[in-house]
Amino acid sequence: MGCVAEKLSSTIVFFIFQVSSIYFLHSLLLAHVMVNFDGVAVKSSPELPFRFRSEDGTFKILQVADMHYGQGAISRCRDVPSSEFKFCSDLNTTVFLRRLIEAEKPDFIAFTGDNIFGSSTPDAAESLFHAFGPALEYRIPWAAILGNHDQESTMDREELMSLISLMDYSVSEVNPVVRDPSSSGEKVFLDRIDGFGNYNLMVYGAYGSPFANHSILDLFFLDSGDRFTAKRGQIYGWIRESQLDWLRGLSQHEQDEHWRHNYLRSSCFPRKTPPALAFFHIPIPEVRNLYYREIVGEFQEAVACSSMNSGVLKTLVSLKNVKAVFIGHDHINDFCGNLDGVWFCYGGGSGYHGYGMVGWPRRARVILAELLKTEGTWMGLERIRTWKRLDDEMLSMIDEQVMLLVSCSHHDAA
Ligand SMILES: *[C@@H]1O[C@H](CO)[C@@H](O)[C@H](O)[C@H]1NC(C)=O
Ligand SMILES: *[C@@H]1O[C@H](CO)[C@@H](O)[C@H](O)[C@H]1NC(C)=O
Repeated sequence: MGCVAEKLSSTIVFFIFQVSSIYFLHSLLLAHVMVNFDGVAVKSSPELPFRFRSEDGTFKILQVADMHYGQGAISRCRDVPSSEFKFCSDLNTTVFLRRLIEAEKPDFIAFTGDNIFGSSTPDAAESLFHAFGPALEYRIPWAAILGNHDQESTMDREELMSLISLMDYSVSEVNPVVRDPSSSGEKVFLDRIDGFGNYNLMVYGAYGSPFANHSILDLFFLDSGDRFTAKRGQIYGWIRESQLDWLRGLSQHEQDEHWRHNYLRSSCFPRKTPPALAFFHIPIPEVRNLYYREIVGEFQEAVACSSMNSGVLKTLVSLKNVKAVFIGHDHINDFCGNLDGVWFCYGGGSGYHGYGMVGWPRRARVILAELLKTEGTWMGLERIRTWKRLDDEMLSMIDEQVMLLVSCSHHDAA
């Protein structure tokens, strides 16, 4: 008898245990699914196209190069004073990015590659979320391209760009989306383009201005690759012919009649296409020549470009609309210099887990585009200014310069 009663009670206990386990598991699963559902269902997308502010006729871009984010608090800083070493990690990079955002209040952030240092993290996705975290926290529209280190963890370049394009407030794209002329005009990815992270963004004129419905500044993003195994060993990646072709297509695509009419009538930059800025990671070989020219900023290390010259400069010069290029890769070069009419500017290393130089603060670049105002109305682009911010106590602003000044008296020069 006793035995049966014991069995019965243990069966009841077991039954209760099972029911509660199932209930517990069910609620766990449900919570998990709900969390996932939330994450996927509501990508917060900024309003596109971008547009110049109607209050002051500006559009401000913050360029953040080479964050080299690893695993957060456990990723140590490189090239900081030895007294700082114990207290310094990726979190310092995050604090710097937050300070930049608070001080400059950019309209848009361009992350120009080596956003994460792949080999320092076992989880690329987690590292990306932390690296771009401040942009998401402050709800600033942002875009990123890849460097040569981003893919050295658990995701390849295509996977990285896909995830980056799906993150909140990101306006990045994996590759150009074009309308397929053969089918119903549906959007399709342009195939036969090399790399991942080639796309363009437009900045429309201010509300209430003649350019309210048109782009007056284009932003081109290009994937400069990672590494390539050539006969004589490894070389850095470069921009391929297919990417230059895409750029030519964009730059030669004439705007509609209405745009041309308005633009030619009221802009001091009378061309068939709007002026443009380009962003990519690895410098082109000609940047080395700037060592002998006048530059603003510092040239402190060899330009680590690809040994392949694919004719990027020649193409940009021939396009005429690309006025400035913003690059990264070399952390302790932070200069701007002009090559055949096109400005090439380094962002300067922003990340503490990347190499730097003791006593030379981490930094980032600000690019401010300003419109011309005539008779109380915002018109086309008048000038582009740039400066850098240092991660020192004052967040010092240095090397301010005017890169582009569109002079109305030279109306027929372009
Ligand atoms: C990194 O952040 C810590 C904590 O705020 C700070 O004490 C340290 O000075 C910072 N290090 C550098 C190099 O900025
Ligand atoms: C822009 O488009 C809106 C809506 O279609 C229109 O009302 C407005 O007049 C247009 N503005 C200009 C400057 O073309």
